[in-house]
Amino acid sequence: MDNIGVVYATKTQHSRKLAEAIAQELGVTAKNITENTQPEETRLLFIVGGIYGGKCNPDLLAYAEKLDPSLVKKAAIVTSSVSVSNRSQKELRELLTKKGVDVVGEISCAGSFLFVKLTHPNKADIDAITHAAKELAANAFS
Ligand SMILES: Cc1cc2nc3c(=O)[nH]c(=O)nc-3n(C[C@H](O)[C@H](O)[C@H](O)COP(=O)(O)O)c2cc1C
Repeated sequence: MDNIGVVYATKTQHSRKLAEAIAQELGVTAKNITENTQPEETRLLFIVGGIYGGKCNPDLLAYAEKLDPSLVKKAAIVTSSVSVSNRSQKELRELLTKKGVDVVGEISCAGSFLFVKLTHPNKADIDAITHAAKELAANAFS
């Protein structure tokens, strides 16, 4: 699919795994935000990150704050966290929306913390997230 980007921030590599799986499914390359401070011009940017102490990854928020909105038409937020109730990134969504980036959806995946859900994200989680991302991308352009 054309003009799709996938970026991630990660502390324990879950978001990298998810981002790489989504990128592979969509035929693009996932980029770490620490090495790519601005995306290429893109119609839909998947932004992948976890939740820490109930909050978004601060590096991801800083990335969103600096994001040039003329480069990104739409965004989809992908979240991995232990708690189901935390599986959205309100702050990130608000930052993007304020910039005029249309957030077309949020999808989520189980992560792990200490001994909670230590085996996540597993293959089933990754399959589910790539499927959801593909659907979201198809709907974003329809
Ligand atoms: C220090 C730390 C704090 C965390 N705090 C939360 C939390 O408050 N709520 C939650 O649901 N998950 C929490 N988690 C789980 C992570 O959100 C989850 O494992 C996520 O997949 C991590 O993504 P990453 O590996 O890309 O950094 C925490 C993980 C760590 C390491």
